[in-house]
Amino acid sequence: MWENLPLFPDSASTLAGDVDRLYIFLVAVSAFFSLLICGLIITFAMMYRRKPDGRVAARIEGSLQLELLWTIIPFAVMLTAFIGGASLYVRMNTPPGEAVDMYVVGKQWMWKAQHPRGEREINDLHVPVGQTVRLTMTSEDVIHSFYIPAFRVKRDVVPGRYSQLWFEATKPGVYHIFCAEYCGTKHSAMIGKIYVQTPEEYQQWLSGVPAGEPPEVAGLRLFESLRCNTCHADTSGAAGARGPSLVGLFGKRVQLRDGGLQIVDEDYIRESIVKPMAKITAGFDPIMPTYQGQIGEEQILQVIAYIKTLRAP
Ligand code: CUA
Repeated sequence: MWENLPLFPDSASTLAGDVDRLYIFLVAVSAFFSLLICGLIITFAMMYRRKPDGRVAARIEGSLQLELLWTIIPFAVMLTAFIGGASLYVRMNTPPGEAVDMYVVGKQWMWKAQHPRGEREINDLHVPVGQTVRLTMTSEDVIHSFYIPAFRVKRDVVPGRYSQLWFEATKPGVYHIFCAEYCGTKHSAMIGKIYVQTPEEYQQWLSGVPAGEPPEVAGLRLFESLRCNTCHADTSGAAGARGPSLVGLFGKRVQLRDGGLQIVDEDYIRESIVKPMAKITAGFDPIMPTYQGQIGEEQILQVIAYIKTLRAP
């Protein structure tokens, strides 16, 4: 409905329409009440100005109807905004169905992206149309913010933690990627392009780039070269194992030494690699050394991709 408004960026994702509707609703409500209040101020100022014959207006000592009216109408309007906003917020945070995982690492001043089979890009991102894509993002230095106006999605990219964002592109084309958080001298140059292609074009594009190593394969190599496997042997609970088995671990809840429960997600694995003492699994000694400084953000993502593939047989 709003696609052709000249003030709006392209509208090219499944979320764009709903975001625009909510935005226009809020602008319309604000504009309506601003005009109404402005108009009433002017009208009343003229109606009740000082009269030459000293007449005064009748005093109103309370009106239930008026009270109800100006309570119920704003309440209904605000409730509509709240319900619209909250349901959209939930939708934006829950990728529907099967999503393709891609990884984005922000760095002063560029965006590095990696595809599921290992293809890499810098400041560019190719995605197929009509496919849900989930981005797992982090930063190597300061806070950035990954922003695709045409998709109406934006999320802060914070060092030391993962943020996720999903979209499904609906229209082939080339759209802007911006950094929306001031991050230093060249913040304004931290821009990129997102190429939305038909599935055939995307396949063709994939076959034209050096495939690179899939993240989980690179992750396995790191897992071995950093000697993670000496303590995290695959055999679950084997006598003498110094660290918990990682098989089938992702997504599960684990009991911690201090009695708490922890869901094993990307953030928890990352923390366990760089700050192993933070949360120790019950039944194990705090003996793991930190890998901070020995492993970069992209490599941590690869190790996580590998751990995700470790399913119970
Ligand atoms: Cu990165 Cu602004």
